[in-house]
Amino acid sequence: MKKSTVSLSVLGALLAIGANAAFAAPDWSKVPKRDVQVFHAGATPIEWVLKKSDHSGRTGLVKGETCVGCHEEKGGLNFDMKRLASKDLEPKGAPKTMNFPVTVQTAYDKENLYVRLSFKAPAGGADQSDKENDVKATVMFANDKVTLDAGGKPVSGAQVGCWATCHTDARTMPGADDKKTKYTAAGGYELMQWKSGKGAKAADGSVTDKRSMEGGTAGVKAEGDTKGGVTTVTFTRKLNGALAEGKAVPMGVAVHADKAGGRFHHVSMGYLLGIGADGDIKAAKQ
Ligand code: HEC
Repeated sequence: MKKSTVSLSVLGALLAIGANAAFAAPDWSKVPKRDVQVFHAGATPIEWVLKKSDHSGRTGLVKGETCVGCHEEKGGLNFDMKRLASKDLEPKGAPKTMNFPVTVQTAYDKENLYVRLSFKAPAGGADQSDKENDVKATVMFANDKVTLDAGGKPVSGAQVGCWATCHTDARTMPGADDKKTKYTAAGGYELMQWKSGKGAKAADGSVTDKRSMEGGTAGVKAEGDTKGGVTTVTFTRKLNGALAEGKAVPMGVAVHADKAGGRFHHVSMGYLLGIGADGDIKAAKQ
């Protein structure tokens, strides 16, 4: 009896050392989880969101309300998915699965922010234009200069999440120029992306007057794999730029499932990431 107890504890210690070596940072089993729903938003760019005849939520937005405040209920979404999948809002055709949960965990230390996403990427996509990558996972952070002008009334990045970058004339929108990427009118976003393709590099980019998939200063690293149908992606990036201890930073998540390209991702609304501050999602201090 005694012998086997000893050898088990030795084995346990070795496993712990192995795990620490593979992921220099957080013990994810101790980091709280927050499920965020991602959904296929069809062609509902910010111009649509801010047009009262298309979207009655505009009235609340200019009074300071957030997408999440109106559309998240008990951790789920209250969207009319049939409307989002209709020819009206999705002329190309909608994916079979309109929404699914992404489990988000975040942690930070003096140098870095760590973000871990886990999800089951659904098959049955309507756009399979990315031949190299079955799955991509993206996180964007807004800086505090993001604002929209809704007829003279300011709407902030913290209210609208990534919608401030999503425009009616951006590539893959119905009838749009294929070279025009997403952009902001004021302020910017930092972007990080993991791609499942063999040898693919993590993107450390930004969205300002155009989108760039490189040139960022966050030193983004990303690792991911899929086991038993669950894809787990871990990002490590510097605590710099829009991110700092004591700040609540608007954050959005997107998953391109089933080889989707362009706007055919499932997206989250905007959540506040609290880094040693209050937020919808709180980064655990290491
Ligand atoms: C004040 C509450 C409110 C806010 C804030 C709000 N919405 Fe809405 N939204 C609604 C209502 C009500 C509807 C359904 C009726 C309509 O379209 O006017 C709706 C409909 C939608 C739809 C179409 C699907 C459906 O259920 O009809 C989308 C997509 C959408 N909203 C996205 C957003 C996004 C993105 C934001 C933030 C940028 C946002 N909404 C902010 C109230 C809101």
